Amino acid sequence: MIYDPYSREVQENPFPIYEYFREKEPCHHNPEMDFYALFRFEDIWEATLDWQTFSSKYGPSLETRSEPPPELVPSIIGMDPPRQVKIRNLLSKGFTPRRIAALETEVRAITRHHLDEYVESGGGDIQEGFSSKLPMDVISALVGIPEEYRAAYRRSVERGLMRDPDTGLPLPREPDALDTRAMLLELLEQRRRNPCDDLMTVAAQSEFEDLDGERRRLSDHEIVAFIGLLASAGSETTVKLIGNCIVYLWQHPDQRRQLWEDPSLIPGAVEEVLRYDPPSQFQGRVTQRDVTYHGTTIPEGARVAIVTGAACRDPREFNDPDEFDIRRRPDRELHFGYGAHVCIGKSLARQETRVALEEISKRFPDYEVIEEGLTRTYQAHVRGFASVPLKI
Ligand code: HEM
Repeated sequence: MIYDPYSREVQENPFPIYEYFREKEPCHHNPEMDFYALFRFEDIWEATLDWQTFSSKYGPSLETRSEPPPELVPSIIGMDPPRQVKIRNLLSKGFTPRRIAALETEVRAITRHHLDEYVESGGGDIQEGFSSKLPMDVISALVGIPEEYRAAYRRSVERGLMRDPDTGLPLPREPDALDTRAMLLELLEQRRRNPCDDLMTVAAQSEFEDLDGERRRLSDHEIVAFIGLLASAGSETTVKLIGNCIVYLWQHPDQRRQLWEDPSLIPGAVEEVLRYDPPSQFQGRVTQRDVTYHGTTIPEGARVAIVTGAACRDPREFNDPDEFDIRRRPDRELHFGYGAHVCIGKSLARQETRVALEEISKRFPDYEVIEEGLTRTYQAHVRGFASVPLKI
């Protein structure tokens, strides 16, 4: 058997395929696409900690076969420590628990606004009507993008992620689309003059000691690349998490009822949805030395997929891993990655999804999913539902 993460079969239901590889071939080579893949929890846990062996310097996409030029590096997700740590530490000041907690009022207001519109329009596809709007607007709030630009910014990022179904190429820019780079650069300039309590101000003002010992601020390019990474890493993933919560809770009505009766269970339920079907199913690395797993040697310079989606169902780590159980309290998790690159936005993603569920439970707790209308997206890195039609 060959593991091809882009095949329809894997995109539809990867779990039986993961089981095969976890048990029979935990270190697998795909000769056609020329990459290796690891499937077991313990192997992936170690690999995320060992960046000297499993480097991120080629970026997250398995197709990239060399180090991209500096102007195309996708910010910290395409770097290794110590450089990645320096820049990440600087920017993580925009993600402290205090800042994320302070954002909750705004997250709730955005959630209510979009959910009320969705209800007023009579329901329908909740991915289109609600889930796809919330995360980008929250990222805009975090960054400090003014409200009047948010809808246009969201549309422009969405379009940037779309591909022509025939050619697989990005779609041409729409003539009246927002010039997001120009908008971000202008905002940066404003924050340099008038600091605010937002991520753009943190990025504009903080100084750090670079690898050569010189103190400096982040360049415009580094800041715009990081904001771009937030839009690509933090938006679609959270959209899919919200959709997954809605579908899997509907599939388990007893657990949904318990959740609505006791909302303190919501954070644990969100964690279980993430484990059961993580929006980010694998992450790309490149080996910096030969390394052997289960009798198979991955040579230096090979591309490797660490398949966290398979690790999250590893029976060596989780009891009855294919059971959905909102009361599960695992010791370790991999659905947000681990090690140097562990998701910087995980508290925000958790908060948004909790708030979304709290507000849904107040509006349409007994929703029904119209199962025949469920469709999935076919994206390289993000797994989840494209449309989730509801009867509310
Ligand atoms: C359900 C939602 C999310 C999931 C499943 C998710 C998953 C992940 C995973 C697996 C990684 C590790 C990548 C690697 O090891 O190569 C990661 C990194 C990252 N995530 Fe998230 N993420 C989510 C939401 C967010 C949000 C809301 C933001 C920000 C607003 C965000 C920003 C980032 C960034 C910047 C990185 C790179 C960190 C680094 O390289 O040091 N993510 N995420």
